[in-house]
Amino acid sequence: MDKLIIRGGRKLSGEVSVSGSKNAALPIFCATILAPGLHEISNVPFLRDINTTIKVLESLGAVVEGNGHVVRIDATNVNNVEATYDLVKTMRASVLVLGPLLARHGRARVSLPGGCAIGARPIDQHLKGLKALGAEINLTHGYVEAKARQLKGARINFDMPTVGGTEHLMMAASLAKGETVLENAAREPEIVDLASMLIQMGARIEGAGTDTIRIQGVSELSPVSYRVMPDRIEAGTFMIAAAITAGDIRIANMQLEHLDALVFKLQDAGVDIINKEGVVRVKGPKKIRSMNIKTRPYPGFPTDMQAQFMALMTVADGASVIAENIFENRFMHVSELLRFGADITVEGNSATVKGVKKLSGAPVMATDLRASACLILAGLAAEGETEVSRIYHLDRGYESIEKKLAGLGADIVRVKE
Ligand code: UD1
Repeated sequence: MDKLIIRGGRKLSGEVSVSGSKNAALPIFCATILAPGLHEISNVPFLRDINTTIKVLESLGAVVEGNGHVVRIDATNVNNVEATYDLVKTMRASVLVLGPLLARHGRARVSLPGGCAIGARPIDQHLKGLKALGAEINLTHGYVEAKARQLKGARINFDMPTVGGTEHLMMAASLAKGETVLENAAREPEIVDLASMLIQMGARIEGAGTDTIRIQGVSELSPVSYRVMPDRIEAGTFMIAAAITAGDIRIANMQLEHLDALVFKLQDAGVDIINKEGVVRVKGPKKIRSMNIKTRPYPGFPTDMQAQFMALMTVADGASVIAENIFENRFMHVSELLRFGADITVEGNSATVKGVKKLSGAPVMATDLRASACLILAGLAAEGETEVSRIYHLDRGYESIEKKLAGLGADIVRVKE
């Protein structure tokens, strides 16, 4: 198992380029099932979650060829309709093959994903939506079995805005008969990216990016070439890396407008952010001001940036309150931050972070993907050496982060344990 060794205290400088979005690429890969033929997806990040998705697609009969950041998926022979536990358990998002398989073949059998470190994460809203489209759903032996000769359009009102649920239903409804209306839909940019791909495939979708999405089903879709949007969470993580080291960096290949909630908080905290011709310059102040945040569905503050923002608040001037409203167990990084000398108390879904003068490097353990990024950020700011173990979580969602940070002047290396 690999670990990262960081010697903190260096101000970051220089330019870094953001990779393609993991959370957009995953549903986009699943959407290829909807149209037989050869798809070409570009700006794909090199990540473990992407490899898992490729394995799932191959297990269903797709032929996948990777060439750098371009992946060609031939979905012609996707004839197996079962996604097994072995694959789904390693990555929850693979449950998104259920709807496309059902829409194309009239049946599918996909393992239930189960919980994960940050919460229970049920898929009841996905299943409620598929049932509304006319699918017969049975849960047996840990699998969801779904059948429907022809999906039929319906009105679906989500109990909460769910990113995966909205994506799942948008894909399935694209091949349903008649109109589907998704109400209380999630509005994340990754949903808009998936909708753009589906529209290019021939789907008729309006309103992606708002809370009401209308889909007129079509009888078939065509394969496409599609470029994945940049990863807004990776971009946001670099912004905080600049802020926490009082650095001055330029971030290329990012869409700043996807990060408004974070940008406003960072600016109020004293960070300079200048967007010039597609490159974003981020300059951290000598001392960060403390800020309160509450995670919310988009366009609110992203839960996927909560851990990284908390790392920043550990060295802010004053106290901040961080409320996590999306996942019930997303404070696992707190006990690791305490090892750096941070001052944090947690009550329910709320953490109070009192800024300290300096963090001191420590051996810490990553517990989930964004928590790993939080620990790296703390390590960059801390005095002395930090060792982050269990970084396999990190490799699920950040492409070569240690190389990118080293390119900005950080003292960070990966070693084999
Ligand atoms: C996606 C992102 C993840 C991000 C999350 C919230 C991907 C691959 N992952 O996850 O990085 O943290 O959005 O922005 O895009 N819920 C239910 N029932 C359901 C579905 C969801 O109760 O059927 C709940 C969840 O437990 C959670 C909330 O709704 O509390 C939001 O979850 P959701 O938006 O669905 O997250 P994911 O799509 O799993």
